[in-house]
Amino acid sequence: MKNILAQLLFALFVNIAFAEEEASPKDRLIVETLTRLERFDVSGNEKWKGAVERYARSLRGKEGYFELVDQFAVKAEASVLIQFVQKDPSAEDAAKAVQLLFRLDKKQSIANALAAGPKAKADAIAKLVGFIQTPEAKKLLEEYRATNKPASTVAVAAPALLATPEDIALLAKRKGDPVQGKSVFQKLCFACHKAGDVGLDYGPGLSEIGSKLPKTELYLAIVKPNAGVSFDYEGWIVHTNQGGVLAGIVTESDEELTIRMVGGISQKVKKSDVAKREKMKVSLMPEGLHLAMSEKELVDLVEFLSSLRTK
Ligand code: HEC
Repeated sequence: MKNILAQLLFALFVNIAFAEEEASPKDRLIVETLTRLERFDVSGNEKWKGAVERYARSLRGKEGYFELVDQFAVKAEASVLIQFVQKDPSAEDAAKAVQLLFRLDKKQSIANALAAGPKAKADAIAKLVGFIQTPEAKKLLEEYRATNKPASTVAVAAPALLATPEDIALLAKRKGDPVQGKSVFQKLCFACHKAGDVGLDYGPGLSEIGSKLPKTELYLAIVKPNAGVSFDYEGWIVHTNQGGVLAGIVTESDEELTIRMVGGISQKVKKSDVAKREKMKVSLMPEGLHLAMSEKELVDLVEFLSSLRTK
């Protein structure tokens, strides 16, 4: 069953990638939504593997690149990923690249980058490794720390951030800067949430979220979006009799379904055209957004959200 779904999605993806030279913005949105679905192993099929590798190359530096490499575990991109890390370890892309390199079993290339120095850069890379919760990442970090005493406390690799409820409780006690937090929101959250006068209306509105959720819950909502998906905002995959696949938030009338996709596009499908619908197992809110920010930015963001109260 799962496999059939994956194959259908893949077929759609290949159509988008190769039927047209330039995928339309709508096609791209579909691909982006698909990347939230289950991972799909193409390693057993040379043709598919080649297709995915070519498509990944064409997406370098563009939107959706990291998601694609992640979903299809494109090992061929490892050498490009490590360049992101070495170019500027404080950039958002570097955090994603480190995460992916671990997933692709390319821990050694990170170890090499740590060994290559210079020290400030290696410390910054070690900090990114500290965001990752796997035993391998922890081991690599320990090895690095054993041989490199940090020059200053600022450069110390971040603790395995947010691993436990205690970590979250500690963060929740901190006071952030809501003005800085708003700019973090405008970077990473506005595409799906409305907060006061900023943002798009896709996920739940957050204009009064500070009255609804205490800081600890706000942290959880960001760090573990899959832990509890808000009712009314569950994602669905709709297959049509014409072979189309759409994913998003579904509302229903007697005659038709309306599927709202990320980015604000809605599509209506007559119920008689629906072949099948399935609930997505994960939240439409992507996991790992906190990896794209520093700890301070995360604290500022939560301060901003917490300041959004019922007037
Ligand atoms: C791709 C769209 C998307 C992005 C980007 C996104 N979210 Fe969400 N978010 C959702 C959806 C959909 C839900 C509702 C489903 C769920 O609870 O998982 C949600 C739920 C939430 C909730 C719980 C709301 C409630 O009423 O319980 C919070 C808080 C939240 N998001 C904060 C954020 C923050 C902060 C960011 C930026 C770091 C962000 N989201 C980025 C789509 C998104």
